[in-house]
Amino acid sequence: MGMESKFIWMNGELVPFEKATLHFLTPALHYGAAVFEGIRSYDTPKGPAIFRLTEHVERLFDSARVFGFRELPWTVDEVVKAHKDTVRANGFKDCYVRPLIYLDGGGWNLNVDGGKPSLAIASWEWGNYLGEEALAKGIRANISSFTRHHPNVMMTKAKISGNYANSFLAKSESVRLGFEEAILLDPQGYIAECTGENLFVVRGGKLFTPSTAPVLEGITRSSIYTIAKDLGYEVIEQPISRDQLYIADEVFVCGTAAECIGLCEIDFRKIGDGKSGKVTREIQNVYHEAIRGKVAKYESWCEVVG
Ligand SMILES: Cc1ncc(COP(=O)(O)O)c(C=O)c1O
Repeated sequence: MGMESKFIWMNGELVPFEKATLHFLTPALHYGAAVFEGIRSYDTPKGPAIFRLTEHVERLFDSARVFGFRELPWTVDEVVKAHKDTVRANGFKDCYVRPLIYLDGGGWNLNVDGGKPSLAIASWEWGNYLGEEALAKGIRANISSFTRHHPNVMMTKAKISGNYANSFLAKSESVRLGFEEAILLDPQGYIAECTGENLFVVRGGKLFTPSTAPVLEGITRSSIYTIAKDLGYEVIEQPISRDQLYIADEVFVCGTAAECIGLCEIDFRKIGDGKSGKVTREIQNVYHEAIRGKVAKYESWCEVVG
């Protein structure tokens, strides 16, 4: 399966990979009653370091709060340490890290209070999510026929497992149509985000991105925001219409799994010159240096496993 490791951390213990299993009647499996994070560790000059780990753990806790867990039996610091312990125990340098807080032991009454939260953290070596070629060439996307959740329906600030049925619908449709990624509109018809990435438009030397109101507050989005500003670009948050993508100089998407990837084509329309654009590549390069601890001013983003 390509996701093997030596250990998965489960409720305080490092459990051998093959033994890290759950019962079929775990409610999280039936109702998506769980919250998760997607995090990456990179090899840096100071050894393996998990990119913006504390912020990811804080967002995990925020997701749990949004979903309705009243209290979690761990502190942020304990969960940060558990992530480092997991990566260290597996001996990984570059890897993906997946914590999941899931409703366990109860919850069949569709009430969060009917169960209790359990936490597991897995890690595995995972290359570029959208493929190695994507980096230079960019990828092809379409506007999905599925709409992104209205925040009053599915809470877009939280990585609730059940929310991702929407991403599955959109991504499966796009891939079956021959595209590599789906762009979802919000319920008002403006660009929201992709199935697992936020989106930026470059036009006239400025960057534009939808406000965070209808989308996930991406940690890569926030890194890119900072990098772009530090490079001297103006970054404007505003509603973006579908046709603004068609006439953009460049469009790129960003997320922990995909990192920073240009879009070469949207809805059969070439974007810019049909390759990963100049600004995209400039930002992509700094981002790739930053995640590997090679940019002094962003070094604090890399939390050393030790
Ligand atoms: C729906 C959605 N939007 C955006 C992102 C990007 O977020 P981040 O950069 O924090 O990985 C993700 C990935 O977690 C996501 O699932």
